[in-house]
Amino acid sequence: MTSETLQKARDYEVSQEKKIADAPRPLFHLSARVGWMNDPNGFSYFGGEYHLFYQYHPYSTVWGPMHWAHVATKDFVHWKLLPCAIAPDQPYDKDGCFSGNALDLGGGKHLLMYTSVRREQQSDGTIQDIQTQSIATGDGIDYEKCADNPVIKSDALPPWACKFDFRDPKIWREGDHFCCIAGTGDDQHDGHILLFTSKDAIHWEYKSVLAENNHRYGRIWECPDIFSIDTDKGKRDVLFVSPQDFVAKDYDFQCGDQSIYILGKYDGAAGKIIEEDVQRIDHGIDFYAAQTVLTQDGRRVMIAWMQNWDACAPNPCDPTRKWYGQMTLPRELSIKNGRLYQRPVREFDTLRKNKVEHKCVVVDGEATFEGVSGRRADLSVVLHLDSSKEECRRFTINFAQNKDHRTSINYYPAQQELSIDRRFAGSRRAFVQDCCAKVGAVDGLVKLRAILDTFSVELFINDGEKTMTVTIPTTTDATGISFESCGKAIIDVEKWDVAF
Ligand code: FRU
Repeated sequence: MTSETLQKARDYEVSQEKKIADAPRPLFHLSARVGWMNDPNGFSYFGGEYHLFYQYHPYSTVWGPMHWAHVATKDFVHWKLLPCAIAPDQPYDKDGCFSGNALDLGGGKHLLMYTSVRREQQSDGTIQDIQTQSIATGDGIDYEKCADNPVIKSDALPPWACKFDFRDPKIWREGDHFCCIAGTGDDQHDGHILLFTSKDAIHWEYKSVLAENNHRYGRIWECPDIFSIDTDKGKRDVLFVSPQDFVAKDYDFQCGDQSIYILGKYDGAAGKIIEEDVQRIDHGIDFYAAQTVLTQDGRRVMIAWMQNWDACAPNPCDPTRKWYGQMTLPRELSIKNGRLYQRPVREFDTLRKNKVEHKCVVVDGEATFEGVSGRRADLSVVLHLDSSKEECRRFTINFAQNKDHRTSINYYPAQQELSIDRRFAGSRRAFVQDCCAKVGAVDGLVKLRAILDTFSVELFINDGEKTMTVTIPTTTDATGISFESCGKAIIDVEKWDVAF
């Protein structure tokens, strides 16, 4: 039965989307249907399609009581809008249906597992969110919440874990039982990932601490995902978490909330992940709460919220404020040289039109190229450092450029540093406007592939060895792309328009 709260959201999204139909939007990135979007949720294959849900407040462009919006795709580039899936309509989730995941149960049943939030006054007089885990099952459109919800309550937690920070379940099947992990914190707000098991997805038992922070990577850990990837050296296990509140450190971590991956070995019997390496997933500014799905042809595809919590301050001048929140392009993951590599999902290539190519051109000072402009583009630049290393001190690509605005990708060969600088992108807010990463040449080349879509750039560096993702609020009339080199640089440029 559709509750009144859910029906209201479903009716509202249909009527409101007509009112904002003229709002400028990204072309091929998923953006909030109406209102507000944050984390991707429930990325899963069910009924012949890939389903994606997201944290959703339909009624305003700021965060509010969370619903789950719902979309589906067959190819990761064309998304079908489906009605809002769940709403905060029960006593145990009245203050929000927070992030979670989904699973095909077989027999035409799709299971959603989410964090149910209820706000309550505590004995010390403070008002706090009690976070528990709940489930709903459905047919891919309509979902019924379980009568036994919440299925993991605060009393299932180990005594040191915080019931106010206990969220974002990821559920999977292992042999004859279900497993679920969720993030939590201790009395020092330090992050832990807890593992629970169940025979029926309804009755759960706490098993172990899967991974813990020990004060290394930010504070509370949110939004875990776990999966394995085949490599030429065998299977590797990967745990994603999104820690809050980093303190900036070297090139590796910037301040604020960001997502990391732990590469290692998952020991199912002990319920632990044995860490081998920890890295940031993306070195840009706007990337958080990533989730993955295994495709029917065996690819591990990731999507993330293309935003940064600290940058979400209401800004009436931002053209994305008729709706708010975008997802990254779905990206294929692989492991090479002990690192996670990312590339845009291969189906994206079907949207590329009108290739323009300029090979081995010398840039010394400023340059523009015939046919190279636009806000929706797939732009690859190869910098030949083998032949211009001595001379080139800084190489820059400017995009979303007009006389007032630009966003710049800068490469400094001597420092092996790559940065994205959006200080002049048109923001009126004082939050982080640039980011940088250590990037070396591979066989004398630095390869940059920038996917531009209206309000963002996703930069894939050296065939996906690193990525940097940044949103920009620049008005859509700024379509210029230009190049600058301080000292001589030799480059190849390949640019495609992206269109449906
Ligand atoms: C992460 C997060 C999750 C939570 C959700 C609430 O971005 O804080 O931990 O479930 O957002 O919308």
